[in-house]
Amino acid sequence: MISKRSIERVIETAKVEEVIGNFVNLKRRGVNLIGLCPFHDEKTPSFTVSPAKNIYKCFGCGKGGNAVSFVMEHEGYGYIEAIKFLAQMYHIELEEIEMTGEQKEAEAKRDSLFIINEWAKNRFAKNLFNTQHGVNIGLAYFKERGFRESIIKKFDLGFASADSRDIFNAAKSEGYNIDFLKELGLVSDKELDFFRNRVMFTIHNLTGKAIGFAGRIMGDNPKMPKYINSPESEIYNKRKILYGLYFAKNEIRKQNHCILVEGYTDVLSLFQSGIENVVASSGTSLTTDQIRLIKRYTDTIKILYDGDAAGINAALRGMDMILAQNMIVKLVILPEKHDPDSYIKEVGPSAFMQYISENEKDFILFKTNLLLKEASGDPVKKAYILKDIVATLAKVPDALNRAMYIKECSNLLDVGEKIINAEINKIIKKEIREKNQRRIRNEQVDSTLELVDDQSKVVADSQAFLVQSDEYQEMEVVRVLMDKGHTYYDENNNRLVVDFILDEVMQILDYFDNHIYKKIILFVKNLREKGKIPERNDFFNADEEIKEKYFELIMTPYEYADWQSKGMELQTQKHPDKNQFNEANQAVWRLQYKKLNKLIKYNQENIIKNSDNPEEYKTLIKVHIKLLKERKNLATLLNIVI
Ligand code: GTP
Ligand code: MN
Repeated sequence: MISKRSIERVIETAKVEEVIGNFVNLKRRGVNLIGLCPFHDEKTPSFTVSPAKNIYKCFGCGKGGNAVSFVMEHEGYGYIEAIKFLAQMYHIELEEIEMTGEQKEAEAKRDSLFIINEWAKNRFAKNLFNTQHGVNIGLAYFKERGFRESIIKKFDLGFASADSRDIFNAAKSEGYNIDFLKELGLVSDKELDFFRNRVMFTIHNLTGKAIGFAGRIMGDNPKMPKYINSPESEIYNKRKILYGLYFAKNEIRKQNHCILVEGYTDVLSLFQSGIENVVASSGTSLTTDQIRLIKRYTDTIKILYDGDAAGINAALRGMDMILAQNMIVKLVILPEKHDPDSYIKEVGPSAFMQYISENEKDFILFKTNLLLKEASGDPVKKAYILKDIVATLAKVPDALNRAMYIKECSNLLDVGEKIINAEINKIIKKEIREKNQRRIRNEQVDSTLELVDDQSKVVADSQAFLVQSDEYQEMEVVRVLMDKGHTYYDENNNRLVVDFILDEVMQILDYFDNHIYKKIILFVKNLREKGKIPERNDFFNADEEIKEKYFELIMTPYEYADWQSKGMELQTQKHPDKNQFNEANQAVWRLQYKKLNKLIKYNQENIIKNSDNPEEYKTLIKVHIKLLKERKNLATLLNIVI
């Protein structure tokens, strides 16, 4: 077990922008950094990272947290795994405390699955380099294909023994849980090894951990599949992984494009030749999740097709979804009878790269040309092509890109731009209509957050939803409390914002509509009673509900320009980050005003009910007058006309 002290050290050291920068392409905007959210599908960035607050927040899907929760969410890690990951990243040595038997047992199953895969990976490597059979069959095969030892080791290649119980027996004698091996597909229900007499390719996740394997058959046997793969498991989801991405991601970012090939060996060959921005879809058709993985690092994807690929046409149809992600897609068809691996071996890296740059074709234009060739002058077929191309063009979200394509396709198809435009508009309108219908069907807030890309609109819409209750005003008070509670309310540094807010809202706490906001205020009050000033870490370490609210409220989608550093302090208005006096006042007064209105209404109902009870009636009228007076005072403060 890791000591609490070293966990704290990791949390203190980890900078959210550095950690997230490993996974998401971040660009500076004002005081924050923004990028495309890795947790949901989006085209305009709403994923915001605040280095100052050391937290992140996505205004599209609502996910938020600190460096630790990011790694947990993104990599599917448990808390300890995430701490270990960060410790490694920052070269922090973790102090171990002896675990009890019980704790050992309780260790997450996921951890065990990763550990077993890591063990199997090492076993396959040992087989490859240290057994006679492995060296003579497996290593000899790799060497013959031209793979150097450095690349074999880097990519964790290995060899599965021909012995049908090699893995099973070794795992058993070393005390590994056989049920977990079954779940990972390493052994069958009959307790026989799944991979036998095959060269092995390790499949890594984005942090380089072994999550699955592929085994290639030795020799030719048309009755057996050339490749077999680990089944999906708790840690391996085929649709969400690209072979080689762990090794390629930095270079993809640097080159600002990603080369997509089909096979494992294609990745290895290109990588070994110095083309490192390469990944493979591994035989399956590309998924939206995989495209989104690439999009974290670049907008441009170059797809290399084998020269004799029969199914290009079919593949092309599936590719509209790449366009829908606003990616630039280029296609390269390799010379006949070649795949990337064989071609780079034949001509060498520089000729290979030259071939790519000379032969890459834009996807849409390529598709148009290909379909035109098929139609060869048949007007009916041509009409169908137009429909097909228009559907593709409608998927291009960026208007400028689309306009460029329309121009080119208009030339190729010999159809006026206006006609193409009109057809595209029809499709887009239909999509918007359908989207709206879906939105009405869904719950209001959910769909608003999901479907509206424009951030300010999201906030406006969800606020509109909240106006019926006082939740919005409660939220504002709690937001100021959490964000500015520790700052001074007055110029003489006599009173903290937290104390001002607590003094003002405790009396109306019972009337709160939202129980979480109420809970947070009580939580803060409790801290104050212990003499503590609530700080960021108090909220981090609070329960899930409070923590989540903290992340949600503490980040705003609005940017404040860094006025002061530019020497542009405004006279009429302070920088919002330094304006806690106003902010606290406004938030508290607005909430009080709302609650007061409710009280007045409630009191009025009581007056009516008590009209035949003169004593009670009189008191209630007095209360009524007092409440009206109070409301008037607040209205003056808030500049509201009643
Ligand atoms: P080599 O023949 O070793 O060069 O492999 P390759 O990658 O060139 O093979 P190929 O072009 O035939 O297939 C491309 C990719 O499709 C492979 O890398 C595998 O990911 C996948 N694939 C090919 N054959 C099979 C198979 O029989 N089963 C499965 N599951 N996948 C396969
Ligand atoms: Mn090949």
